[in-house]
Amino acid sequence: MRVDILTIFPEMIQAVVGCSILKRAQDKGALTLAVWNIRDFARDRHRSTDDYPYGGGAGMVMKPEPAFEAAETAMAAEPGRRPHVILTTPQGRRLDQDVVRGLAQRDWLMILCGHYEGVDERIREHLVDDEISIGDYVLTGGELPALIILDAVTRLQPDVLGSEESVVEESFSEDGLLEYPHYTRPAEFRGWNVPGVLLSGHHGEVSRWRRRESLRRTLKRRPDLLERAKLSAEDARMLVELKEEHDEHD
Ligand code: ADE
Repeated sequence: MRVDILTIFPEMIQAVVGCSILKRAQDKGALTLAVWNIRDFARDRHRSTDDYPYGGGAGMVMKPEPAFEAAETAMAAEPGRRPHVILTTPQGRRLDQDVVRGLAQRDWLMILCGHYEGVDERIREHLVDDEISIGDYVLTGGELPALIILDAVTRLQPDVLGSEESVVEESFSEDGLLEYPHYTRPAEFRGWNVPGVLLSGHHGEVSRWRRRESLRRTLKRRPDLLERAKLSAEDARMLVELKEEHDEHD
Protein backbone atom coordinates (compact mmCIF):
# COMPACT_ATOMS: atom_id res chain seq x y z
CA MET A 1 0.00 0.00 0.00
CA ARG A 2 1.16 3.53 -0.72
CA VAL A 3 0.28 6.39 1.65
CA ASP A 4 1.08 10.06 1.05
CA ILE A 5 0.67 12.45 3.96
CA LEU A 6 0.33 16.18 3.29
CA THR A 7 1.07 18.28 6.33
CA ILE A 8 2.46 21.57 7.59
CA PHE A 9 4.30 19.61 10.34
CA PRO A 10 6.23 16.82 8.60
CA GLU A 11 8.44 16.42 11.71
CA MET A 12 5.41 15.26 13.65
CA ILE A 13 4.80 12.47 11.16
CA GLN A 14 8.50 11.55 10.83
CA ALA A 15 8.82 11.28 14.61
CA VAL A 16 6.39 8.36 14.62
CA VAL A 17 6.80 6.47 11.36
CA GLY A 18 10.41 5.47 12.07
CA CYS A 19 9.41 3.22 14.99
CA SER A 20 7.90 -0.14 15.67
CA ILE A 21 5.55 -1.82 13.23
CA LEU A 22 5.22 1.22 10.95
CA LYS A 23 8.97 1.06 10.41
CA ARG A 24 8.96 -2.69 9.92
CA ALA A 25 6.13 -2.43 7.37
CA GLN A 26 8.19 0.05 5.33
CA ASP A 27 11.34 -2.06 5.61
CA LYS A 28 9.39 -5.05 4.33
CA GLY A 29 7.88 -3.12 1.43
CA ALA A 30 4.31 -3.56 2.71
CA LEU A 31 4.01 0.23 3.16
CA THR A 32 5.44 2.95 0.93
CA LEU A 33 5.16 6.24 2.74
CA ALA A 34 5.74 9.73 1.37
CA VAL A 35 5.47 12.81 3.59
CA TRP A 36 4.97 16.18 1.91
CA ASN A 37 5.41 19.58 3.50
CA ILE A 38 2.56 21.76 2.24
CA ARG A 39 4.64 24.84 3.00
CA ASP A 40 7.11 23.81 0.27
CA PHE A 41 4.33 24.55 -2.21
CA ALA A 42 3.49 28.03 -0.91
CA ARG A 43 4.47 30.67 -3.44
CA ASP A 44 4.19 33.96 -1.57
CA ARG A 45 6.99 35.75 0.24
CA HIS A 46 5.92 34.49 3.64
CA ARG A 47 5.22 30.98 2.38
CA SER A 48 1.78 31.12 3.94
CA THR A 49 -0.47 28.11 4.04
CA ASP A 50 -3.37 29.90 5.74
CA ASP A 51 -5.22 33.19 5.36
CA TYR A 52 -8.09 35.19 6.85
CA PRO A 53 -11.64 34.00 6.19
CA TYR A 54 -13.68 35.88 3.60
CA GLY A 55 -16.63 37.40 5.37
CA GLY A 56 -14.67 37.85 8.57
CA GLY A 57 -14.75 35.94 11.82
CA ALA A 58 -12.27 34.19 14.07
CA GLY A 59 -9.56 31.77 13.03
CA MET A 60 -7.62 31.13 9.85
CA VAL A 61 -8.42 29.02 6.81
CA MET A 62 -6.08 26.65 4.93
CA LYS A 63 -5.36 28.14 1.51
CA PRO A 64 -6.19 26.06 -1.56
CA GLU A 65 -3.14 26.63 -3.80
CA PRO A 66 -0.39 25.00 -1.69
CA ALA A 67 -2.62 22.06 -0.74
CA PHE A 68 -3.63 21.41 -4.38
CA GLU A 69 -0.06 21.75 -5.62
CA ALA A 70 1.30 19.42 -2.96
CA ALA A 71 -1.40 16.85 -3.80
CA GLU A 72 -0.85 17.16 -7.56
CA THR A 73 2.92 16.81 -7.19
CA ALA A 74 2.43 13.70 -5.06
CA MET A 75 -0.05 12.31 -7.59
CA ALA A 76 2.38 12.84 -10.44
CA ALA A 77 4.58 10.13 -8.89
CA GLU A 78 2.13 7.51 -10.19
CA PRO A 79 0.67 8.64 -13.51
CA GLY A 80 -2.59 6.96 -14.48
CA ARG A 81 -3.53 6.17 -10.89
CA ARG A 82 -5.40 8.27 -8.40
CA PRO A 83 -5.25 7.96 -4.61
CA HIS A 84 -8.24 7.95 -2.29
CA VAL A 85 -7.87 11.42 -0.76
CA ILE A 86 -8.77 11.79 2.91
CA LEU A 87 -9.11 15.00 4.91
CA THR A 88 -8.80 14.68 8.69
CA THR A 89 -11.48 16.81 10.33
CA PRO A 90 -13.81 16.56 13.32
CA GLN A 91 -16.64 16.96 10.79
CA GLY A 92 -15.81 13.71 9.01
CA ARG A 93 -17.32 10.26 9.32
CA ARG A 94 -16.19 8.54 12.49
CA LEU A 95 -13.28 6.13 12.24
CA ASP A 96 -13.96 2.60 13.47
CA GLN A 97 -12.59 -0.81 12.58
CA ASP A 98 -15.09 -1.22 9.70
CA VAL A 99 -13.92 2.08 8.17
CA VAL A 100 -10.29 1.03 8.74
CA ARG A 101 -10.90 -2.27 6.96
CA GLY A 102 -12.40 -0.44 3.97
CA LEU A 103 -9.45 1.96 3.73
CA ALA A 104 -6.91 -0.84 4.17
CA GLN A 105 -8.15 -2.44 0.95
CA ARG A 106 -7.21 0.53 -1.19
CA ASP A 107 -3.77 0.51 -2.67
CA TRP A 108 -3.15 4.25 -2.43
CA LEU A 109 -4.26 6.70 0.26
CA MET A 110 -3.46 10.38 0.46
CA ILE A 111 -4.12 12.02 3.82
CA LEU A 112 -4.39 15.79 4.04
CA CYS A 113 -3.90 16.93 7.63
CA GLY A 114 -6.48 19.60 8.34
CA HIS A 115 -5.53 22.72 10.30
CA TYR A 116 -6.70 26.07 11.54
CA GLU A 117 -10.37 26.89 11.75
CA GLY A 118 -10.85 24.78 8.65
CA VAL A 119 -9.82 24.32 5.04
CA ASP A 120 -11.02 26.34 2.07
CA GLU A 121 -14.22 24.68 0.88
CA ARG A 122 -12.79 24.19 -2.63
CA ILE A 123 -10.27 21.72 -1.17
CA ARG A 124 -13.17 19.68 0.20
CA GLU A 125 -15.17 19.91 -3.00
CA HIS A 126 -12.51 19.32 -5.63
CA LEU A 127 -9.63 17.46 -3.99
CA VAL A 128 -10.94 15.40 -1.10
CA ASP A 129 -12.87 12.13 -1.51
CA ASP A 130 -13.43 11.29 2.12
CA GLU A 131 -13.48 13.20 5.42
CA ILE A 132 -12.57 11.32 8.57
CA SER A 133 -12.84 12.16 12.28
CA ILE A 134 -11.11 9.98 14.85
CA GLY A 135 -13.67 10.86 17.52
CA ASP A 136 -15.88 13.54 18.97
CA TYR A 137 -13.21 15.80 20.41
CA VAL A 138 -11.13 18.56 18.90
CA LEU A 139 -7.37 18.31 18.43
CA THR A 140 -4.88 21.01 17.51
CA GLY A 141 -4.41 19.59 14.03
CA GLY A 142 -4.83 16.62 11.73
CA GLU A 143 -1.37 15.04 12.18
CA LEU A 144 -2.28 12.74 15.07
CA PRO A 145 -5.49 11.62 13.29
CA ALA A 146 -3.45 10.95 10.12
CA LEU A 147 -1.01 8.82 12.12
CA ILE A 148 -3.85 6.91 13.70
CA ILE A 149 -5.38 6.15 10.31
CA LEU A 150 -1.94 5.15 8.97
CA ASP A 151 -1.26 2.86 11.92
CA ALA A 152 -4.65 1.17 11.78
CA VAL A 153 -4.53 0.48 8.02
CA THR A 154 -0.88 -0.61 8.05
CA ARG A 155 -1.39 -3.37 10.59
CA LEU A 156 -4.03 -4.90 8.29
CA GLN A 157 -1.66 -5.16 5.31
CA PRO A 158 -0.61 -8.71 4.47
CA ASP A 159 2.53 -9.92 6.26
CA VAL A 160 2.85 -6.84 8.50
CA LEU A 161 1.86 -8.54 11.73
CA GLY A 162 3.33 -11.76 13.00
CA SER A 163 0.89 -14.53 13.82
CA GLU A 164 0.99 -13.63 17.52
CA GLU A 165 0.26 -9.95 16.94
CA SER A 166 -2.70 -10.54 14.64
CA VAL A 167 -4.92 -12.23 17.21
CA VAL A 168 -6.40 -9.01 18.55
CA GLU A 169 -7.77 -7.95 15.18
CA GLU A 170 -9.32 -11.34 14.63
CA SER A 171 -11.16 -11.41 17.89
CA PHE A 172 -12.30 -7.80 17.70
CA SER A 173 -13.38 -7.78 14.10
CA GLU A 174 -14.69 -11.25 13.56
CA ASP A 175 -17.24 -11.30 16.29
CA GLY A 176 -17.33 -7.64 17.36
CA LEU A 177 -16.74 -8.28 21.08
CA LEU A 178 -14.17 -6.80 23.43
CA GLU A 179 -11.16 -8.90 24.35
CA TYR A 180 -11.16 -11.21 27.37
CA PRO A 181 -8.64 -10.48 30.20
CA HIS A 182 -5.06 -11.60 29.55
CA TYR A 183 -2.52 -12.93 32.05
CA THR A 184 1.12 -13.95 31.83
CA ARG A 185 3.67 -15.21 34.37
CA PRO A 186 3.95 -15.13 37.35
CA ALA A 187 0.85 -17.08 38.42
CA GLU A 188 0.84 -15.11 41.67
CA PHE A 189 1.88 -11.46 41.87
CA ARG A 190 1.59 -9.53 45.18
CA GLY A 191 -1.06 -11.96 46.29
CA TRP A 192 -3.14 -11.51 43.10
CA ASN A 193 -3.69 -14.83 41.40
CA VAL A 194 -4.26 -15.76 37.78
CA PRO A 195 -7.70 -17.43 37.43
CA GLY A 196 -7.22 -21.14 38.06
CA VAL A 197 -8.95 -22.23 34.86
CA LEU A 198 -6.13 -20.69 32.79
CA LEU A 199 -3.60 -22.91 34.56
CA SER A 200 -5.73 -26.04 34.21
CA GLY A 201 -4.51 -27.02 30.74
CA HIS A 202 -8.14 -27.77 29.84
CA HIS A 203 -8.58 -26.13 26.44
CA GLY A 204 -12.36 -26.43 26.32
CA GLU A 205 -12.79 -24.77 29.69
CA VAL A 206 -10.25 -22.06 28.86
CA SER A 207 -12.18 -21.20 25.67
CA ARG A 208 -15.51 -21.14 27.49
CA TRP A 209 -14.09 -18.93 30.25
CA ARG A 210 -12.58 -16.51 27.71
CA ARG A 211 -15.80 -16.30 25.75
CA ARG A 212 -17.78 -15.62 28.89
CA GLU A 213 -15.34 -12.91 30.05
CA SER A 214 -15.41 -11.35 26.60
CA LEU A 215 -19.20 -11.21 26.75
CA ARG A 216 -19.12 -9.94 30.35
CA ARG A 217 -16.74 -7.12 29.47
CA THR A 218 -18.69 -6.13 26.36
CA LEU A 219 -21.97 -6.14 28.29
CA LYS A 220 -20.49 -3.97 31.01
CA ARG A 221 -18.42 -1.54 28.97
CA ARG A 222 -19.82 -1.46 25.46
CA PRO A 223 -23.35 -2.92 25.39
CA ASP A 224 -23.84 -1.09 22.06
CA LEU A 225 -21.44 -3.57 20.43
CA LEU A 226 -23.65 -6.54 21.38
CA GLU A 227 -26.34 -5.44 18.92
CA ARG A 228 -24.00 -5.96 15.97
CA ALA A 229 -21.92 -8.84 17.40
CA LYS A 230 -22.00 -12.32 15.91
CA LEU A 231 -23.43 -14.44 18.72
CA SER A 232 -24.06 -18.19 18.88
CA ALA A 233 -26.91 -19.82 20.80
CA GLU A 234 -24.37 -20.62 23.55
CA ASP A 235 -23.33 -16.94 23.67
CA ALA A 236 -26.96 -15.87 24.00
CA ARG A 237 -27.41 -18.31 26.89
CA MET A 238 -24.27 -17.01 28.64
CA LEU A 239 -25.47 -13.44 28.14
CA VAL A 240 -28.77 -14.20 29.87
CA GLU A 241 -26.79 -15.55 32.86
CA LEU A 242 -24.41 -12.58 32.85
CA LYS A 243 -27.30 -10.12 32.76
CA GLU A 244 -28.88 -11.89 35.73
CA GLU A 245 -25.57 -11.71 37.65
CA HIS A 246 -25.25 -8.07 36.66
CA ASP A 247 -28.80 -7.26 37.88
CA GLU A 248 -28.22 -9.10 41.16
CA HIS A 249 -25.25 -6.85 41.87
CA ASP A 250 -27.28 -3.68 41.33
N1 ADE B 1 -8.71 17.54 13.67
C1 ADE B 1 -9.00 18.07 14.87
N2 ADE B 1 -9.71 17.21 15.60
C2 ADE B 1 -9.90 16.09 14.85
C3 ADE B 1 -10.56 14.86 15.05
N3 ADE B 1 -11.20 14.56 16.17
N4 ADE B 1 -10.54 13.95 14.05
C4 ADE B 1 -9.90 14.23 12.89
N5 ADE B 1 -9.27 15.38 12.64
C5 ADE B 1 -9.27 16.31 13.60
